[in-house]
Amino acid sequence: PIKAFLFDLDGVIVDTAIYHYQAWKRLANELGFDISEEFNEQLKGVSRTDSLDLILAHGNLTLPDEEKAQLATQKNEWYLELVSRMSSDDILPGVAQFFSQVRKANLQTALGSVSKNAPLILERIGMIDVFDAIIDGNKISKGKPDPEVFTKGAAELGVQPDECVVFEDAVAGVEAGKRGGMFVVGLGSPDVLAQADLVAPSLQDLTVDEVLAKSGR
Ligand code: G6P
Ligand code: MG
Repeated sequence: PIKAFLFDLDGVIVDTAIYHYQAWKRLANELGFDISEEFNEQLKGVSRTDSLDLILAHGNLTLPDEEKAQLATQKNEWYLELVSRMSSDDILPGVAQFFSQVRKANLQTALGSVSKNAPLILERIGMIDVFDAIIDGNKISKGKPDPEVFTKGAAELGVQPDECVVFEDAVAGVEAGKRGGMFVVGLGSPDVLAQADLVAPSLQDLTVDEVLAKSGR
């Protein structure tokens, strides 16, 4: 049976995905090129350093490590400026309702985010005490699509991968959950998230009972 739900943060709980995109776009523009929303799909769920590598390759740029470190820091400063004004008003529609169903169903919860800023964001939106386990970018060595962030979450909760459902908005995150042996719910477009076991536009469009039934576990 399913015992735990593992949630990505950016784009699932809160709409910070747009702020990551805006900060990366600003950086690319300063470097003399642009990144489209379509290209940005590849960056979702991918760590800060891996995202920068993808962006530089997209702009046909090769830079020394020191300069890359500076650019990553610059992006993060812009990102932090954008998120500094966030509050519980920024929690995505349907999240509160879905979590109350999760509690009633006696399921455990973990956050599985590659973001090093995840604890800060959870504080800002008042959700730091909601999860039974928090795995973020500071606790892992491999970002999505590697399954580490989710397998660590399952381990910390004391459950098996096939007892977990993963909720993800990113192509890399869906792949991470699948590689981890979990049932994966994609939140977004079925074309983009084709690898997911079930796709819905957002948590607002799902009930816990429906997810448990469709998981067939
Ligand atoms: C999440 C986001 C990515 C972001 C990554 C690292 O996975 O979806 O867009 O690059 O976290 O975030 P950080 O806050 O550590 O730069
Ligand atoms: Mg995400």
